[in-house]
Amino acid sequence: MSDILRQLEAKREQARIGGGQKRIDAQHAKGKLTARERIDVLLDEGSFEEFDMFVEHRLNDFGMGDQKMPGDGVVTGWGTINGRLVYLFAKDFTVFGGSLSDTHAQKICKIQDMAMKVGAPVIGLFDAGGARIQEGVAALGGYGEVFQRNVWASGVIPQISVIMGPCAGGDVYSPAMTDFIFMVRDRSYMFVTGPDVVKTVTQENVTAEELGGAKVHTTKSSIVDAAFDDDLQALTQIRRLIDFLPLSNREDPPVIETEDEITRLEMSLDTLVPTNANKPYDMKELILKVVDEGDFFEIQEAFAQNMITGFGRIDGSTVGFVANQPMVLAGVLDSDGSRKAARFVRFCDAFNIPIVTFVDVPGFLPGTAQEYGGLIKHGAKLLFAFGQATVPKITLITRKAYGGAYVVMSSKHMQADINYAWPTAEIAVMGAKGAVEIIYRKDIGDEEKITERTQEYEDRFLNPFVAAQRGYIDEVIMPHSTRRRIARGLAMLRTKQVETPWKKHDNLPL
Ligand code: HXC
Repeated sequence: MSDILRQLEAKREQARIGGGQKRIDAQHAKGKLTARERIDVLLDEGSFEEFDMFVEHRLNDFGMGDQKMPGDGVVTGWGTINGRLVYLFAKDFTVFGGSLSDTHAQKICKIQDMAMKVGAPVIGLFDAGGARIQEGVAALGGYGEVFQRNVWASGVIPQISVIMGPCAGGDVYSPAMTDFIFMVRDRSYMFVTGPDVVKTVTQENVTAEELGGAKVHTTKSSIVDAAFDDDLQALTQIRRLIDFLPLSNREDPPVIETEDEITRLEMSLDTLVPTNANKPYDMKELILKVVDEGDFFEIQEAFAQNMITGFGRIDGSTVGFVANQPMVLAGVLDSDGSRKAARFVRFCDAFNIPIVTFVDVPGFLPGTAQEYGGLIKHGAKLLFAFGQATVPKITLITRKAYGGAYVVMSSKHMQADINYAWPTAEIAVMGAKGAVEIIYRKDIGDEEKITERTQEYEDRFLNPFVAAQRGYIDEVIMPHSTRRRIARGLAMLRTKQVETPWKKHDNLPL
């Protein structure tokens, strides 16, 4: 009996060293952890339960019959993060470069299927060379099976991808269909075709970093939600993110006990908005002062910075924050900002996370670049996302809410549940200067008259009370009591239920 046990342990030991010590050393020399080391950091200590440790590929071509490594380039299983269940797969670069074979894909699919049945997130750690080249079409089929499961799982369980090394060819599309993608700076890259193919086809000379590094994907393409300095930081931050998310769409978000009273007043908010309406201020300060313990997990911090999106907690429960940022482009709505916020709103709605929206928006960004780039369609995405969301929605207008952007930013008309305004709010079709130049065009040139008309317009419209008289604003509140107001509103809305007409699915303006 003890012989059998020893044999099992020896087999396990062999599987655990993946592609061997030389390749593990090479992985470390590149500043990367191995797949198993990553799992150890990601999960609670001792919680990992592995599946399919002894799976091997079935290929005999190209001398592969003699090259079998247990596990076949991916470590899969389940464990816990702060006591909550997650499923995961981690590509093992030391085994055939983490490349995907038919059997490797089946291991991932098994995890995806189980996560769907049980209702818990799937986290994928990527570090691989794409399709197993020796395997041909079977590897392509394997990718397809994984992709289809990503589609089924979308909106049912959170799916998170972390790119920690190469991620090319077939490997990019599974992350692209997950909810969040993160990258490790300087040692990971993501592209459909690499620098060599790019050079052949388009004659462009680019490095892997220039083509698909973390900087490109967090600032230009917006494919990636955040970048971290190394494996350790990335994995620790994923643990933090998981703490904000429900395990599936059947659950409410987790509640984390806090000492931060909802009655906490923030007197400094009374002077956050400068008296000069053209002066910027930092909307993040408002978010940080409203959330529990100043803990805010920002999504897409480096992209479309005129829009802020991220998770915080109020009274222990997760809330999705969407906010215009007056510090960048005066907080204007453009195509990138609209797309960024729309995707975030849809995630929150799919996973029962209430949405709090802070508004200070001078309108949509004018110009040919925006119009040719599809501003109408991208703006419509955000309008659609807010209008479709049935989770509790609370909106606060701090300063400007002009024109179409007022309507889009979770206004009462888009079924927000509670709409607050600070006394500094200006809710109007447009700013006073622009309005006067249109309605009093004949007076242009007569400075005195224009100043008088501008003042008249400001007095009449640039306040929250015209909207409040119509019930578009439920209450004009003191800035210092914002946290308490929102917390009480969210508590009141906890049992909100909305019936929507049956449909197969919507036709979001993609
Ligand atoms: C089989 C692979 C492999 C692959 C790497 N390896 N990629 N084996 N299939 N796709 C193996 C190498 O042979 C090597 O084995 C080990 O992994 C490490 O690779 P190196 O090249 O030594 O490492 P490095 O220099 O760090 O370069 C990493 C790399 C490079 C940039 C990822 O290996 C690479 O370019 N690989 C090929 C990428 C690719 O073209 N993939 C196919 C994409 S097509 P040893 O035994 O020496 O350790 C695709 C289509 C799917 O994915 C579409 C589905 C929709």
